[in-house]
Amino acid sequence: MRTTVGIIGAGPAGLLLARLLDEAGIDSVVLESRDRAYVERRQRAGILEQGTVDVLRAAGAGARMDREGLRHGGIELRFDRRRHRVDLPALTGGKSVTVYAQTEVCKDLIALRLATGGPLLFEAEALAVEDAETDGPLVRYRHQGREDVLECDYVVGCDGFRGVARKAVPPELSRVFERTYPYGWLGILADVPPSHDELVYARHERGFALLSMRSPSVTRAYLQVPEGTDADDWTDEEIWDELNRRLETDDPAWTLRRGPVTAKSVTPMRSYVHEPMRHGRLLLAGDAAHIVPPTGAKGLNLAVGDVVTLARALVLLREKGDPSGLDAYSETCLRRVWQAERFSYAMTTLLHRAPGATPFDDRIQLAGLDRITTARAAETDLAEAYTGFPFDEPQ
Ligand code: FAD
Ligand code: DHB
Repeated sequence: MRTTVGIIGAGPAGLLLARLLDEAGIDSVVLESRDRAYVERRQRAGILEQGTVDVLRAAGAGARMDREGLRHGGIELRFDRRRHRVDLPALTGGKSVTVYAQTEVCKDLIALRLATGGPLLFEAEALAVEDAETDGPLVRYRHQGREDVLECDYVVGCDGFRGVARKAVPPELSRVFERTYPYGWLGILADVPPSHDELVYARHERGFALLSMRSPSVTRAYLQVPEGTDADDWTDEEIWDELNRRLETDDPAWTLRRGPVTAKSVTPMRSYVHEPMRHGRLLLAGDAAHIVPPTGAKGLNLAVGDVVTLARALVLLREKGDPSGLDAYSETCLRRVWQAERFSYAMTTLLHRAPGATPFDDRIQLAGLDRITTARAAETDLAEAYTGFPFDEPQ
């Protein structure tokens, strides 16, 4: 098979890139190792930045998001038994975030691609990217038991953190920056209306807790747990009890609504950046190139930012013969990526309790939160980063 842009991976990055290229009349083939049901059900992100919402809408993938997504103008911080609301639009000139699950974004983009776009092959596993340094890069893949080759002008690795594309960059040209954290998140979905109408981020001596949602009738919540925890180590009752302990404040008006837990899993936490994000005619986008710990809700939004930059660069090349966008791709994305890395790291270390944390560490965290809740400059900095930086402008 031959195509202009070979896309490995049908997560948010690969699917949105395919859509943007379809719209620009640039042909592409998407290879996805899993089946459609798996991709549409994998529980992950839930928060879309303003820029992500705007991009999905402009790409014609916003109709259901506009109907079912929940626009949020604030987040709540809880610490030291206090509650503080961060008013996002007031601090950012009107920006907000939208609760609309990654599963739903993927479903919408898959439906669009299958109805109106080029090929999207499920259960098509990329085995290797070859000849990235030449004008004819290719992807070796296996589909329906047969090995085949996809010949491309460009290959884009949107195959997530454990994909194969990144391995095609020679080790001597790769630079990896990484940090792991000695804790993870135990995440649940529960059939019960959310206990608050906005997201709640809580710092507690027993560890971090996050109260989120997927819809007006479905709660999503996370608890910081030690590294290596198995989700089955926790009963549903223990999870609700612990959420209650960590989210409780001196305000008696708030109560935690409990309900049947329908899904439970543990996510490790990691910061990771692979530089550069381009090698010859291979480009990396999304989790294939970088991972953030989930605390700032940046991962999916960064993936969107990468493919917006990339689609613009490919359109510039196609329409004007101008390669400058592609040449600048890695540098343009990495600026935004490092801002998100910085923010996610700061939010993570501000709100989580590391094993062996000292009373000094506790006081530093509380001082950081006190600053955000009393100094408008500090609160504005948080609100700007949380709602997201513009996709193509210097940060
Ligand atoms: P992925 O979604 O990982 O997609 C990669 C795709 O490539 C997959 O479908 C995979 O099956 C496929 N693939 C892999 N290898 C191959 C191969 N060899 N051949 C073919 N296909 C292959 N981000 C946010 O912005 N906001 C949040 O609120 C948020 N919350 C999160 C909560 C949790 C619990 C987790 C785990 C993540 C969260 N994230 C969040 C991060 C976000 O989910 C990821 O950053 C996002 O999925 C990245 O998209 P992607 O398309 O780059 O990669
Ligand atoms: C969710 C995930 C996050 O990482 C976050 O910061 C907020 C919400 C969620 O899955 O709902």
